[in-house]
Amino acid sequence: MLKKIPGTFFSFFLIFALIWGCGPKEKVFRIALAVPLTGDIAAMGQGMKRGAEMAVKEANASGRFKHRIELVSFDDRADPKEAVNVANQIVSDPKIPVVIGHLNSGCSIPASKVYAKKGLPMITPAATNPKLTLQQMEPSWKWARNIFRVNTTDDVQGQFAANFLLAKLKVRTVSMIHDKTPYGQGLAEEFQKEFQAKGGKVLSFDGISIGDRDFKALLTRIKTMKPDALYFGGIYNEGGLAAKQARELGLKALFVSGDALKSPEYLKVAGAASQGSYITNVGLPPEKIPSAKAFLDKYGQEYPGMDMQPYDHYTYEAAAIGLLALEKAGIQADGSIDRAKMIQFLRDLKYDGVLGRTEFDEKGDTKNQAVTIYLVKDGNFVPVD
Ligand code: ALA
Repeated sequence: MLKKIPGTFFSFFLIFALIWGCGPKEKVFRIALAVPLTGDIAAMGQGMKRGAEMAVKEANASGRFKHRIELVSFDDRADPKEAVNVANQIVSDPKIPVVIGHLNSGCSIPASKVYAKKGLPMITPAATNPKLTLQQMEPSWKWARNIFRVNTTDDVQGQFAANFLLAKLKVRTVSMIHDKTPYGQGLAEEFQKEFQAKGGKVLSFDGISIGDRDFKALLTRIKTMKPDALYFGGIYNEGGLAAKQARELGLKALFVSGDALKSPEYLKVAGAASQGSYITNVGLPPEKIPSAKAFLDKYGQEYPGMDMQPYDHYTYEAAAIGLLALEKAGIQADGSIDRAKMIQFLRDLKYDGVLGRTEFDEKGDTKNQAVTIYLVKDGNFVPVD
């Protein structure tokens, strides 16, 4: 009898553990966000996280889902290799129906193949290199066309900037610097193509590296060429320092760049030298989109005193669209996720949200090709009509 007690006790313990520990669990779906959360450009990734958090919070509060929705954030550190690592983690979780990300084109392109191989829908709210979606139109693309993006692309953005400079600012000559990434170099090349095609002259085209901090030798050489404008393809740290050092050296050229400088961080890094620079961003200013008002009000309440980074509202939108695809097409009667049905749903989407109307073309790119150019005035980005 005495010998039996431990066994009986063990049986009770087992039943207890099964009921409380391993019994029916709360049903959860996880929305993956893959962006840089640490490192040089973490400020933009953290802004994107705020956008995604808002969309998930709203979905849970709405009562539309029987499951709880959880946001799981992965830090790709803006590093293409790390992006592939996190992509592999993401596809190994069957509770993840969609990934929102990545921020950098240089991360998005290699990671997208990992998602494609597993048929996981990917919606980027920020990567602008056209190749990201074009690659899935190649005959060599053997997988589902799973890549979507809610922002327009650098061919559109580069052309817009070139035409604005030529027609509105009467710029005739430009020197160009880029950061040799798929984004920075890609955007610079798109600008260059259009600028030259329309009669502008590119006096120089130089690559720098991410992490470089001293551009004085290069800028001194550029100064001797006396360009009307200096176009920078890259991100706010290098761009902000280039603008600042150009001003310190007395380079008179207008400073012009793209979406990855449309950040309060650029204003901080460049300081007073940001005054008078022209920065494009994809889309219309959210303040000008009536359907974005509720988001902007809520952002202010959720994150008082926080400045919006360029892609926060894009990430909110991408997450809201991913959640809609999950709700309307993804969840099956047995509680499993059908990712292929979600992809089909996204192909047919017509969605009115904080970006205005989102519909995807056959490549998976938004048909909304609006671009806005901002003039920096007294530490503010002022949209130019
Ligand atoms: N638009 C930038 C990129 O594509 C952030 O990398």
